[in-house]
Amino acid sequence: MKPVTLTTLKEMKRRGEKITCLTAYDYSFASLLDRAGIDTILVGDSLGMVIQGHDSTLPVTVAEMAYHGKCVARGVKRAFLYVDMPFMSYQESPQRALASAGRLMRLGGAKMVKLEGGEPMAETVRFLVDRGIPVCAHLGLIPQSVHQLGGYRVQGREAADAKRIRHDAKVMQESGASLLILEAVPAELAKTITGDLAIPTIGIGAGKDCDGQVLVLQDMLGIYPQPSPKFSKNFMEGAANIDAAVKAFITAVKSGSFPGPEHSYYSDDHG
Ligand code: KIV
Repeated sequence: MKPVTLTTLKEMKRRGEKITCLTAYDYSFASLLDRAGIDTILVGDSLGMVIQGHDSTLPVTVAEMAYHGKCVARGVKRAFLYVDMPFMSYQESPQRALASAGRLMRLGGAKMVKLEGGEPMAETVRFLVDRGIPVCAHLGLIPQSVHQLGGYRVQGREAADAKRIRHDAKVMQESGASLLILEAVPAELAKTITGDLAIPTIGIGAGKDCDGQVLVLQDMLGIYPQPSPKFSKNFMEGAANIDAAVKAFITAVKSGSFPGPEHSYYSDDHG
C-alpha cells in the first residue's frame, strides 16, 4: 500500500483519474476513510461548524486545527493529509503564516496546508513554498470571507468575477500552490480553470470536470443538523453502513457519476 503523495495526485490528473477527498476530524473516521481507499483527507476548518456548532468557520484556532490534525494523522496510513489554516492565522503576514503552517505540520500531522484567497495571498504562498511547506489554495466561495461575500453564495457567475477567479487560479499555481480547491463556482468556470492548470483542481459545488471532488463528511453522511448545500449528497441513503457510504462516494467520483447536474451550478442559472 503506497502512500499517496503530491506526485501521485499530479500523476492522477495527467492520466485523468479522479481524486477523492473527504474531510475528517478524528482518529476513528480518518481510519475508516483511509481503509476505504480515499485518496486525500482534509482536516477542514469546517470543523468549526460540524464539530463545534458555530455558524461559521471564523472562531477556529490554530491550536484546534493542530489538535484535530494530530488525531486524524494517527488514523491515516495511505491517504494524503492536509490541514486548513484557520481565519487570521495567515492573512496578517507571510511570517505569521509560516509560524501557523509550521505548527500544523510539526504538531498537526499536515503534509500540506490550505489557505483561502487569490492574488493577495500570492506572496504568502510563495513564502511558504520556498520554505518547504506545500500549499493548497482555495478559491470561489471562501468561507472565511462569508461576511464580505454576503453569505454562502455561488461565486463567479458575473463575467468580471469569473475572470478574477480564473486569474487568481493561475497566480496561485505560479506562486507554487500544489492543489486548488474550487468551491461553489459554475461548472463551466471550473472546467476552464481545470484545463488552464497543471496542478489538480478539487471541486465542491464546482461541477464534474474538476480533477477531483471533496465533501464535508457530516454532509455526505447526512448527520449535520442544518440544511445541506445543494452540492452535497447524502451517501448514507441506500448504504448499509458508513463504510459502504464512503465507498459509494469513492466509486461515484472515480466513475464521474458524482457530482451530477443537480449538485452543480451553471453560469446562467440561479439555483
Ligand atoms: O473546511 C473545509 O472543510 C473545506 C472544504 C469544504 C473544502 O474547506
